[in-house]
Formats: sequence, C-alpha cells, structure tokens
Amino acid sequence: MSNIVIVGTQWGDEGKGKIVDLLAEYVDIVVRFQGGNNAGHTMVVNGEQFISHIVPSGILQGKTCLIGNGMVVDPAVLLEEIDYLGSMGIDVGTDKIKISEKAHLIMPHHKQIDIARENMNGNTKIGTTGRGIGPCYEDKAARTGIRFTELLDQKVFSEKLSAVLEEKNFYIKNFLNAEIIELNRIIDQYNSYAERLAPHVANVSVLIDRAGKAGKHVLFEGAQGTHLDIDHGTYPYVTSSNTVAGNACCGAGIGPQEISGVIGIVKAYTTRVGEGPFPTELFDETGDKIQKKGAEFGATTGRKRRCGWIDIVMLRNSVRLNGLSGLVITKLDVLGGLESIRLCVDYTYKGEILHDFPASLKVLAECEPVFETMPGWSEDISNIRQTEDLPENARNYINRISKLVEVPICIVSVGPGRDETIVINNPFL
Ligand code: GDP
Ligand code: IMO
Ligand code: MG
Repeated sequence: MSNIVIVGTQWGDEGKGKIVDLLAEYVDIVVRFQGGNNAGHTMVVNGEQFISHIVPSGILQGKTCLIGNGMVVDPAVLLEEIDYLGSMGIDVGTDKIKISEKAHLIMPHHKQIDIARENMNGNTKIGTTGRGIGPCYEDKAARTGIRFTELLDQKVFSEKLSAVLEEKNFYIKNFLNAEIIELNRIIDQYNSYAERLAPHVANVSVLIDRAGKAGKHVLFEGAQGTHLDIDHGTYPYVTSSNTVAGNACCGAGIGPQEISGVIGIVKAYTTRVGEGPFPTELFDETGDKIQKKGAEFGATTGRKRRCGWIDIVMLRNSVRLNGLSGLVITKLDVLGGLESIRLCVDYTYKGEILHDFPASLKVLAECEPVFETMPGWSEDISNIRQTEDLPENARNYINRISKLVEVPICIVSVGPGRDETIVINNPFL
C-alpha cells in the first residue's frame, strides 16, 4: 500500500490540482485534510478546465473523494460543486463523495465576519479570500463550532446555532457595524443542505483504515502552501489551518505510520495572492511577463498574483517541515523566452547570511535575496515528454533546484493539461 501526501511548498497555487488529478489514476481514494473553499485547484483534461474548491481533485478520474475532519466546509458551495460536476457527467454519487461527520461547517456569520473585518482593517488586512475560513477555525478552537454530525440532528443544530448566533450578532452589529444574521432563515437553509448532504456524511477515518487493510492506495491532497501554514508560514499573513504534510494525519484521522511518501509541488518561480512579505518579488517587466504568460490570476478570487523568482530558502524550509521525499516542478514552460533566470539561494539580513527562513516578519521584510543567475532558453517546451529532450538550460535549471535542496524530482509539468507532463519517477509505480 502506498499512501502519499501532496503539499504546496510556496504560498499556494503551485499546481496541486493538476498533479493530484494526474496521480489519482494510480490510487483508489483521494482525501483532502484541511482548508476549505479558499482553495482553487485547477485541472485541465482534453482542453476542458475545471476548478475544484472543496471536492478533492481525484473526482475527474472517478476516484472516491473524501472530505476529512480537518476541513471547514461551506455546504452551499459544496452542493454547487456537486451539481456542476454532475452536470458534466461526472459520477458524484453518495459512494464517490464522502464528508467526515467531524468536519466543521462554514456558517453565514463566518463569511460576514471575515469580510467585515478585512474591510475594517484597511492597510493591515490579511487579504483573505473572504470565504469565512478564519472565523470558522476560530470557532473550532473555541469549541463553539458546528460539525456535520450536529447538522444532521435538527434539534441539536438549532440549539447550537441559536446559542452561538446571539454572541456573533452582537459582535457583527456593535463592533463590525455589519448586518446581523437572521436565525430562522439560516436554520431553514441549513436543514435543506442537511437533507441533501446526509447520505454523503461518514466516518472518514474508518473508510481510510478499511481501504488500507484492503491494500488500496490513498492520496492526500494538501491545500494552500507551506508558507501559508498557521504555525510555519508568514504569520499573520497565513491561512487558519496547518497546511504541512503532518496535518494529513490529524485532518484525515490516520496515524503517521500510514504515510509512505510526501511530494512537494514547487512552481518554477514564486507567486503570492494577498498581503505579506515576499523577498523575491519582481516589480519590473520580467514580473509582468511571468504574470501574463503564467496567467497568474487567483483561481478562487480572480485577484492578480504577485510574481517573483524561485526562493530556495523557502523550498529548503518546506523540505524540512514536510519531510519531502520527492519534488514536482510545475510551470517550467512559463519561464521560456527569458534571457536569464534567477534563484534565491540565501538571504542577507543586516549584512549577514541567513540560510534558514526567519520567523520574524520584520526580519523577513528586510531580507535581501542572494541570487544565482542561470541562462534561460527560448524554445517552447510544452510538447516535451522526456527530460532528455528539454533544452540543456532548462534541464540545468531543474537539476540545480533539486541539488540545492537535495530532493529528487519525480515530475516536471510543462503545461496546464493532464498530458503536458514529464514523469521521471511515478511515486505509485
Ligand atoms: P493549485 O491551487 O495548487 O491547485 O494551483 P491553481 O490551480 O490555483 O493554479 C495553477 C494554475 O497553473 C492553473 O491555472 C493551472 O491550470 C496552471 N498550471 C498547472 N501546471 C501548469 C504548467 O506546468 N504550465 C502552465 N502553463 N500552467 C500550469
Ligand atoms: P490553493 O489551495 C493561494 C491566502 C489568501 C490570503 C491568506 C488567508 O488554491 O493553493 P484565507 O481565506 O485562507 O483566510 O486567506 O491565504 N490563500 C491562498 N493563496 N492559494 C490558496 O489555495 C489560498 N488559500 C488561501 O489569499 O493571503
Ligand atoms: Mg489555487
């Protein structure tokens, strides 16, 4: 049995959706273990694009998709996604999509608080996706959250919601100056969601355990990226969950011994959506060029992504924090046509070399990248399927990344399509 975790190594949008969809062919189950519809995972199959926000990216391959207890789920968005997939002829039956009974529900007040806070905070805002992610995880930690198991019991649900909403509405009205949420409307709305989603609700931990005992393979799909992790990311400019591989265990309900490998996805350059420091950010023509060629717009909010050179200090951090056994380099095609390419291999801070990613945001904001420069290539590489056919400079570039962090490359992606891929070492074969 192979159970592999796939995580983003940067600030999200590394191409996790594409790689999970590609590798889902070789597994029986795909599980998401954290985050919610702040994620936007893009899959392109036969020229058709699909963006998944909640349902794991194994759904197009017809695999069983599990929503783990570590996720926060907006039931309205999930139902929309299920309906959309169904309308495309994809099997979204109750045995294909299962939701953990312990996953927390994103409620209308979570979204309301997220958006109103961001509006109020002006210059100090995080730049969240406005999907209610932070406020939902806050309630989970405060032990006042509502889970799917409570949603399925109408009496328990209305009791919990009315107790919680009194406090939330006080805060929404008096502190945030925003519109309060009406209890009865939400109860009716969520009861209708419960009716449709009830057959999907299950004990996900038990399902994974049974599958493992039957010799099945499981792929754990991370969302966001290592540097958006609540503990290890650029706090407070992070999301509200642990995005690192270790959380696959907590967020799916399995033990660490079940994990056999961890693959880190790294974009051939760096992007970031939202606020926060970004040492290798480009503010020049090259940055614009990468943004345009890479079509770097957020898959969830449509915001323009900030672009910069690859940051090996960040990647080194991700290798250690996730225990990466393999690397996938994506969007290598986007760098074609640049005369030279830069890799940030260290930082300097107040004249001294910093080899490791700092915890202090103030320090990070003052770090200067130490760059290595390599020659670029001009050829279009999107039709290449073997590493040896890549232009020498492209090959040298990816080998340099691998050497700097001492992790082998297993896949190189040269276009958004499932087939636009060079597979060097399939982790499931
Ligand atoms: P995720 O959140 O990590 O799943 O990544 P997103 O889907 O948000 O963003 C990645 C974007 O890059 C999507 O539009 C993908 O279709 C696209 N993409 C993925 N891999 C490649 C690649 O190798 N080359 C190009 N040009 N685009 C890619
Ligand atoms: P995928 O899975 C990129 C960013 C937001 C913001 C911060 C906090 O597609 O890689 P939140 O709504 O989570 O409270 O926002 O995190 N963010 C992402 N950036 N990709 C994502 O997901 C992201 N999910 C959250 O832009 O800066
Ligand atoms: Mg994304």
